[in-house]
Amino acid sequence: MKRALYPGSFDPITLGHLDVIQRGTQVFDEVIVAVAHNESKQGLFSVEERIDMIRHALGTQKNVTVVQLDGLLVNFARQEGIKIILRGLRAVSDFEFEFQMALANRRLFPQIETIYMTPKEEYSFLSSRIVKEIARLGGDVSQFVAPVVSARLKAKFLKPA
Ligand code: PNS
Repeated sequence: MKRALYPGSFDPITLGHLDVIQRGTQVFDEVIVAVAHNESKQGLFSVEERIDMIRHALGTQKNVTVVQLDGLLVNFARQEGIKIILRGLRAVSDFEFEFQMALANRRLFPQIETIYMTPKEEYSFLSSRIVKEIARLGGDVSQFVAPVVSARLKAKFLKPA
């Protein structure tokens, strides 16, 4: 059984991420979405909130599991017997960071292979950071994220009257 680990911050998950997950399920038997818990990076949403939104956004999508990732990704992969990391690649600007991560992960766990998938071109500009910025300034993000995420962002940035 071919299982792929799809790690990320997902703060919050966007339609671009969901597109990569969906593509992943067409190639792998199972996609494990690993939501990174980073002590030094204060997210807008807690890891629990992010996981909850991902599960809602996935709905009945089959062959996808969502887990919290504490510590090194390669340690989790090794522990679970997973040898494939799946990442989305939107544009050349993503390349440098992705290249560094893939090589660092491979040094730490030589059996690991990082595979990239390109989301639909209409999502190539999309990032969690841009979505948060638009939502923070009162813009409509419903075309960029699942309805559950749009509602949670609205609630987060709701200004008291
Ligand atoms: O969505 P992001 O923020 O681009 O994802 C980055 C992520 C979570 C994949 C990366 O920071 C990661 O793998 N974190 C887990 C800790 C780890 O293994 N760090 C070393 C990566 S070389």
